[in-house]
Amino acid sequence: MALENWHVKLEALYDQMVKWRRHFHQYPELSFEEVETPKLIAKLLTEWGIEVRTGVGGRGVVGLIKGGKSGKTVALRADFDALPIQDEKDVPYKSLFPGVMHACGHDGHTATLLGIAKVLSEVREELPGNVVLIHQHAEEKPPGGAVQMIADGCLDGVDAIFGYHLAAPSPLGFLGTRKGSAMAAADSFEITIYGKGGHGSSPHQTVDSIIVATQVINQLQLIVSRQVDPLKTAVISIGSFHAGNANNVIADKAVLTGTVRSFEPEVRDFLEKEIKNVINGVCATHHAKADIRYERGYSPVVNHDKETELFFKVAKDLFGPDRVAEIPPITGAEDFAAYLEKVPGVFFHVGAANPDGREMFPHHHPKFDFDERAMVIAGKTLLSMTYHYLTEQKELNELVVQETSNTL
Ligand code: NI
Repeated sequence: MALENWHVKLEALYDQMVKWRRHFHQYPELSFEEVETPKLIAKLLTEWGIEVRTGVGGRGVVGLIKGGKSGKTVALRADFDALPIQDEKDVPYKSLFPGVMHACGHDGHTATLLGIAKVLSEVREELPGNVVLIHQHAEEKPPGGAVQMIADGCLDGVDAIFGYHLAAPSPLGFLGTRKGSAMAAADSFEITIYGKGGHGSSPHQTVDSIIVATQVINQLQLIVSRQVDPLKTAVISIGSFHAGNANNVIADKAVLTGTVRSFEPEVRDFLEKEIKNVINGVCATHHAKADIRYERGYSPVVNHDKETELFFKVAKDLFGPDRVAEIPPITGAEDFAAYLEKVPGVFFHVGAANPDGREMFPHHHPKFDFDERAMVIAGKTLLSMTYHYLTEQKELNELVVQETSNTL
């Protein structure tokens, strides 16, 4: 069967995938500064006869594999940027660039997608549709590479998108995700409250920005506890509060900063609206003025039902039901969210705990590493999802064509 052959080919590429991964690991590049990484990706894809577009949305690389048979188009995405962290691992493939490190596994995502690309380039005649390979820059830093690549057309003609993240804290070979909201939105704000300064002995002649700011903080906490549905998740945290310099001077200005987390788009919209409302309301009551800078980070990752069901079916068939689980939402953020706002798809996690009982370090840790065999597990899952999606869509299509011609 075609799919089994694809898996055999991917397994045979394992050593090569490890080599690619370790190369990227040794030469990591920061978000929005990637030069050599996309160059190498484009070179390899071109060598394999894949149609390549570079500089997509800035630094992204998009490959197109046209199948031998017509059909739908699936996009597969991998990010390729690193982090401003000093690599403290004691391994031969340690980062050669001081202060820059692949500490999140994006090198592994990239090597996985290259493996998939190589396999599909060899079997393109069997492919009942097309595959778009999205190699994305700058996932770690808002506004992120995804929105830029989308604006530059990377999703044009795409019917569904799949992507994954290595999960070093989970055991090798365990896979999971969930329908609907799977990862959080992380937004931030900075509020400057302008009062009227004066002498500490005569508060009636001033507008005390510290008092106003404390009222704002208290009222903001009531949004989550009194206005958001208790069964939904929302967090508003004030992280800093700066005002005043002297014991006997009423501060004319106070600056607050904070972070806002949510999982559902409606909750996210509500929080932004209500936070502004509360600040302006409190300030008006106290004759103060506020300048609010509210910044949206990544949207929540919201998986689509059908594509998530396809992931669960495929993963259970491949690895057994005991290794596949519906997991709780994750509070981390991911700009894969942007693709899912445009086309249906799913983002899942693949367990990759260090082999041989080596100590586990979390993502973004200076000693982060993962079991490279997880790349094959992820690659097989993505190949199977692509195969089943394209085959099923093609059959559905043919059924519709048949029915239409029958009724004519
Ligand atoms: Ni990451």
